[in-house]
Amino acid sequence: MGATGAAGRAAPAGADARAVNPAATQPLAAADARRIAEAFLPEFPLGNRYDYYYVRGKLGSDPLYPGVLAALRGSDAPLLDLGCGLGLLAHALRCDGQTQAYRGVDNDSAKIARARRAADTSGLTHTRFDVIDLANTVPEHRGSVAILDVLQYLDADAQRALLVNAAAMLMPGALLVIRSALDDDSGRARATRVTDRLANWIGWMRFRPRCWPTREGLRETLEATGLQAEFAPLYANTPFNNWLIVAKRPAS
Ligand SMILES: C[S@@+](CC[C@H](N)C(=O)[O-])C[C@H]1O[C@@H](n2cnc3c(N)ncnc32)[C@H](O)[C@@H]1O
Repeated sequence: MGATGAAGRAAPAGADARAVNPAATQPLAAADARRIAEAFLPEFPLGNRYDYYYVRGKLGSDPLYPGVLAALRGSDAPLLDLGCGLGLLAHALRCDGQTQAYRGVDNDSAKIARARRAADTSGLTHTRFDVIDLANTVPEHRGSVAILDVLQYLDADAQRALLVNAAAMLMPGALLVIRSALDDDSGRARATRVTDRLANWIGWMRFRPRCWPTREGLRETLEATGLQAEFAPLYANTPFNNWLIVAKRPAS
């Protein structure tokens, strides 16, 4: 896989056709990023603004959400966001005019509390958040599923179990949308591993990364559940080896 690709350039060898949709490989517009981030401002003027700056920076630099929004557009299946963090996908969906029911789950109760508060502040409808540890609990769901930047926090067996469970949740026409760094021998993969470990050391991520999936391993697991998967690079100008994987049941 090419290690130096960026948005707007040709997709690396091995990328599927979906890879080359330039509109979906750029971050959110700065004004949208700022507006969403404002929901994370502290209640009081001298309160902690960390989440505000983090959200603004993340949305303004990472092509994650436009890529996921493009994949989900046109489907009204309820969406379960596994490892939702602060629930930014819910804000991005509503900003994009997507109104499907949204449920975010995460095992970090502090993040879930902040996600609930920001969703309330923004008046997001049909949105709920719950504390769930995906290592030992499978939420009930029928619809689409998002797993964004989460797989590396589970070991290989737990990743496989999560993907098998997520595949079983898909109702007809629904999608499994994954963003994950892929493990390979590229410089991007090395930058990803270092950054994920750093996020844990500085305390932003409570849990240490355990295992970065490979493209072949993911494809094998998804195909074993009967899903067809498309892989597309989703790193824009970031140095990371992030890919968007969109899986669905083939039409019978
Ligand atoms: C890098 S963050 C991604 C957050 C969100 N998906 C996003 O894209 O903004 C990874 C998230 O996975 C969550 N996570 C890690 N292990 C988990 C587990 N066993 N169960 C539930 N959530 C988990 C973390 O708490 C964290 O919020």
